[in-house]
Amino acid sequence: MRFKTTLQGASLFLGMAAASSALAALPPVTVYKDARCGCCAAWVRHLSDAGFAVSTRDVTDLPERKRALGVPARLGSCHTAEIGGYVVEGHVPAASIKRLLQEQPAATGLAVPGMPIGSPGMEGPNPEHYAVQIFDRNGARVFDHY
Ligand code: CU
Ligand code: CU
Repeated sequence: MRFKTTLQGASLFLGMAAASSALAALPPVTVYKDARCGCCAAWVRHLSDAGFAVSTRDVTDLPERKRALGVPARLGSCHTAEIGGYVVEGHVPAASIKRLLQEQPAATGLAVPGMPIGSPGMEGPNPEHYAVQIFDRNGARVFDHY
């Protein structure tokens, strides 16, 4: 009985250590957005709540920035972010960004095209199912479903 308790204590400790090192390892996020965008600010709050250190830049050249960062026009949304060498376009859930950072796939980044109701920062009645796309210059495929 004592042995089992000790084991549980050890695995709890290891789990906590892993969780805190993962948190400490989260790279900072820079979000490019329009100053008047309310849903962008709501997405920034979602990221902050998930443990990300977020800084925002209000810009007026979003289409040019998206192009320069390699976001395909058909995957475009309201804001564009840079994190850990990846680009994140639109209302991507923090869980998908954490998975991206953990798995480190060869890709430009993640996108939730458009602004689906029910995605983080776009909460509302009648939430839609939507997909997170992983993309590079050659194309895109589904990375996560919500
Ligand atoms: Cu939006
Ligand atoms: Cu936005």
